[in-house]
Amino acid sequence: MKIAIKADNPLEAVALSSGLIPSGAILPVLSMGVSSILITAMRLNVFDHLHNAPMKIAALATATNCDVFGMEVLLEGLYGFGFVERNENGYRLTKDSARYLTESGDKVRRDFVYFFLRDVSRNLEQLEHKIRTGEQSNFHFSPPSSDCWSNYLKFLEGNGQRLAPKIAKWAKFNQEPQTLLDVAGGPAQYSIAFCQKYPNLKASIIELPETVKYGTTVVEKVGLSDRIRYITGNLLEPDWGTNYDVILLFNILHNLTTEQCEFAVQQAFQSLRSGGTLLIEEPFHPGNQGKLSAFGSFISLVYFAMSGTRTWPKPVLKEWVSKAGFTKVRTSKWQLILFMSAEKP
Ligand SMILES: C[S@@+](CC[C@H](N)C(=O)[O-])C[C@H]1O[C@@H](n2cnc3c(N)ncnc32)[C@H](O)[C@@H]1O
Repeated sequence: MKIAIKADNPLEAVALSSGLIPSGAILPVLSMGVSSILITAMRLNVFDHLHNAPMKIAALATATNCDVFGMEVLLEGLYGFGFVERNENGYRLTKDSARYLTESGDKVRRDFVYFFLRDVSRNLEQLEHKIRTGEQSNFHFSPPSSDCWSNYLKFLEGNGQRLAPKIAKWAKFNQEPQTLLDVAGGPAQYSIAFCQKYPNLKASIIELPETVKYGTTVVEKVGLSDRIRYITGNLLEPDWGTNYDVILLFNILHNLTTEQCEFAVQQAFQSLRSGGTLLIEEPFHPGNQGKLSAFGSFISLVYFAMSGTRTWPKPVLKEWVSKAGFTKVRTSKWQLILFMSAEKP
């Protein structure tokens, strides 16, 4: 997936294809425009205010506690980029904006967009400094605000709901699993999916305190408190327990350094029973030889900004897994996601 300039009318189409419009120069400026306008409108809650009915500029400025002149210019920006429409009744949302940018739309996608534009963007402001200096900070241990942490957990919950059934279906075990350790399991979506698939399965989730609070309520809501328990702790401390049938390392390795990843994979090896299965889910990265998508490369930069890490290439993940002693390594790519499975001999 790449981003590109698209013509608004036939005349522009001709100008674009003949090279009269310098798309290489306009693309970076418009990309900055779209993210600045959206970030501002989201932080000011413009989309949710516009959701019920069209609003005039002054009314929207009052509702959002903003300056009328500033709101006028912002709304024109949103109109120019096609996020709102306007007529004599004021400004209203387009169908896509209502769907992806408001509370009552597609919640999972909305939380995804909001987390990136409202919260991740704050971390990206430090990208230049971090790339210059190599300075690292891990967002998980110093989130900029409690709001940001709860937006993060909502985003993880939605993302997990989308992906968990896929990997639960993909994973194969040599016997029906009874015990599962979900390392840094977030709001429990994967443990829930596996417990729903395997009725005798019990899951333990190692997580940080704030996530435990949130995740405990998620587990209660689906009625699985008797089968899924949280262990409050740091996965980097070697106290994972032993003899599990399955261990999940899902979307955590990209938050860890090389040494920490190797530690986690080795720890998984020690904590599984013989014949047990390690499952890994990570954003797909092909390594030096393959093509990178815009989203794939951007997300790696986000991890660098937020955790001082990156998306680990598939060959690197395979190497860590084999080095720890795992065999029967199996991988699959689903959309932009890598699934990996490996067995402890
Ligand atoms: C990207 S999320 C992945 C959550 C879940 N596995 C998933 O795939 O949706 C990373 C999770 O790791 C947890 N985490 C980060 N560092 C950790 C650590 N050192 N020990 C335990 N949990 C940690 C965070 O609280 C967060 O829920």
